[in-house]
Amino acid sequence: MPESDFIAAPFLNLIERGTFSWSAPSNIALVKYWGKKAHQIPANPSISFTLNNCKTITSVVFEKKSTDEDFSFELLFEGKPKEDFKPKIEKFLERIATYCLYLKQYHFTIDTRNTFPHSSGIASSASGMAALSMNIMSLEKVLNPKMTDDYFYQKASFLARLGSGSACRSIKGKAVVWGNHAEINGSSDLFGVEFPGQIHPNFENYQDTILLVDKGEKQVSSTVGHNLMNGHPYAENRFHQAHSNLSKLKMVLENGDLQSFIEIVESEALTLHAMMMASMPYFILMKPNTLEIINRIWNFRKQSNIPVCFTLDAGANVHVLYPQKNKVEILQFIQDELVGYCENGQYICDEIGRGASLINNE
Ligand code: DP6
Repeated sequence: MPESDFIAAPFLNLIERGTFSWSAPSNIALVKYWGKKAHQIPANPSISFTLNNCKTITSVVFEKKSTDEDFSFELLFEGKPKEDFKPKIEKFLERIATYCLYLKQYHFTIDTRNTFPHSSGIASSASGMAALSMNIMSLEKVLNPKMTDDYFYQKASFLARLGSGSACRSIKGKAVVWGNHAEINGSSDLFGVEFPGQIHPNFENYQDTILLVDKGEKQVSSTVGHNLMNGHPYAENRFHQAHSNLSKLKMVLENGDLQSFIEIVESEALTLHAMMMASMPYFILMKPNTLEIINRIWNFRKQSNIPVCFTLDAGANVHVLYPQKNKVEILQFIQDELVGYCENGQYICDEIGRGASLINNE
């Protein structure tokens, strides 16, 4: 679908008021998005598992106003005004303005909260932008009742991408691909698509336990991080590698080969960090405890033969990925060997989910 198809024609009948509420989950990338071009176009395709428990719940009240020059909104976090979140939302609204002209005709009150602790090192931009985009699409759906479900979800993902790239993978489906890939039907740089293949039962309810190694603010913002790939000496090879890893992972998700899954996922995580270490300026986002945990996971896997592996985001926290059938042993292993490396012994148990869900529609 070309970009122009996402421009909503002016609506003649605007409703006076609408209230919606959506939850949208976080996601964990298996093949990483790292590097982007103008207008939030990814430098390489990526794929993620959608999470289930780490989510943002956002309610929006839209009230029609008489003027339509500027955006007008209030932002509440857990029911209280939150001024420092406003510039990010303002920028998002400016980016999506061409596609949602009707927004300037409404004053809206956005009330948002996360199910995970605010200072946990877990980014809320993916779930937050996804939840807000779903609410906007709910309004657009009321203004344009003939809209198909496919268009509804696709445009929601398109809008979310303009807020934060990885947010487009938090809309719909257990595994989501974002970015053009020759072997993935329907894949696009403009929005995320549900992984089109059959996912092998080995990945049913796959677990992700997030070990909170460092709960502080991100050391490198995602914008700065992605920009590090411009002029990076290894950029072109990295982008090719992501295409090739996605081809391999596509087969693995279908055939259930957990050994290959581990190899691809861990290599992707370490490559992401290698890119940061090899950029100018350079960063080390892992902490000593991140490395301790990785080594403990490797030893445990060797001794137990349980297919547990790790992945990382652009930070020190470790996502421990494993099949549901090994949950008891892995949680025991985490208790016995890994909690000591987590800040205040904290970790979050999550698993594969299905995407955003509607909570309220008035
Ligand atoms: C390392 O989606 O946060 O988590 O588009 O600038 O908002 P922006 O970046 P963002 O980048 C996420 C990078 C990553 C890898 C991934 O999720 O694919």
